[in-house]
Amino acid sequence: MNYDTQMLSSSEEDIEKAAALLREGSVVGIPTETVYGLAADALNSSAVSEIFKAKGRPQDNPLIVHIGEFSDIYKYVTEVPENADKLARAFWPGPLTMVLPKRDIVPMTTSGGLDTVGIRFPVHPIAREIIRRSGTALAAPSANLSGSPSPTTAMHVYKDMNGRIPAIVDGGDCAVGVESTVVSFDKDGKVRLLRPGFVSLEDIRGVVGEDNAVCAKGVTEKISDGEKVLSPGMKYKHYSPKANVTILCGTLEKFTEYVSAHNGGGVCSMIFDSDAKGFPFEYITYGDTSEEQARELFAVLRSLDDMGTEQVYARCPEQSGVGLAVYNRLLRAAGFEVVNL
Ligand code: TXA
Ligand code: MG
Repeated sequence: MNYDTQMLSSSEEDIEKAAALLREGSVVGIPTETVYGLAADALNSSAVSEIFKAKGRPQDNPLIVHIGEFSDIYKYVTEVPENADKLARAFWPGPLTMVLPKRDIVPMTTSGGLDTVGIRFPVHPIAREIIRRSGTALAAPSANLSGSPSPTTAMHVYKDMNGRIPAIVDGGDCAVGVESTVVSFDKDGKVRLLRPGFVSLEDIRGVVGEDNAVCAKGVTEKISDGEKVLSPGMKYKHYSPKANVTILCGTLEKFTEYVSAHNGGGVCSMIFDSDAKGFPFEYITYGDTSEEQARELFAVLRSLDDMGTEQVYARCPEQSGVGLAVYNRLLRAAGFEVVNL
């Protein structure tokens, strides 16, 4: 791996360049509505291996396969349960990934050795055009180095992947900011939420019925070493900035008191926009609504690293709707360190 990484634009010519690289079996950084992805031909085992190398990703952590058309799902999975069909109709194209039994055409390299595969039909127009021109489906994990926060700008991808991949397509800032919602289906057809995202548990229940969707263990609880997980991604420490992150749950008043008692050099508070006026200590803000927090979270974690922060105290996000996705990512950044004030 020693590429002179090229930054491509979203012009037709550059999109064609990206698609040509993908057709040849190379890895390209691409924008999606959630986060940037590190894409390669999902059906080409050696191309997919290059993704794992570029990211430094454990081989048993499966990749999501991105399709360009609704009906392509049937090319890659052996069965689409009724609830999967309902969810696809409600949320595709968009930030939802469904884990289903895979066909043999999907290499084990892509599925991390599992007999299931995660399928997503993204809505981002550049992603869709790249998939269409590549003439295949694209395996794409988030385009960060394994363990660091997911990239929401082309510059984030460049920082992690410069020299490691031939090209990155710049499609601007990602609109959603956290990775897709991942679900699987129990034998009885129930939907199991493996990773919360912009498509919320409440949204899913609105489609399949209140009693037909449940949250997997691991979404808000720590999985102990050696425990069996439904999604390999759950067991890896994620999104970890260099700083130690602690989530503080309680009012702004209690938060301020706590920071006051623990303040010192290298400490920075991660607060909501509306908390900023008059906040007496060093801070960085990450939005007010859950949607804003989702969009800003990873960029804020990256800038805390750039600032050389050693200890971050973060205000606790909502734990419902899109907020559950923000909380889930922040929990992992914090290594599950939460203080109830
Ligand atoms: O929004 C997204 O999903 C982004 C963009 C690029 O599309 N991709 C992404 O991929 O976040 P990645 O690889 O960073 O996260 C995929 C997650 C991992 O936690 C993985 O373990 C889980 O989905 N996953 C993938 N296939 C699975 C499978 N067959 N069974 C269980 N979990 C699976
Ligand atoms: Mg990732």
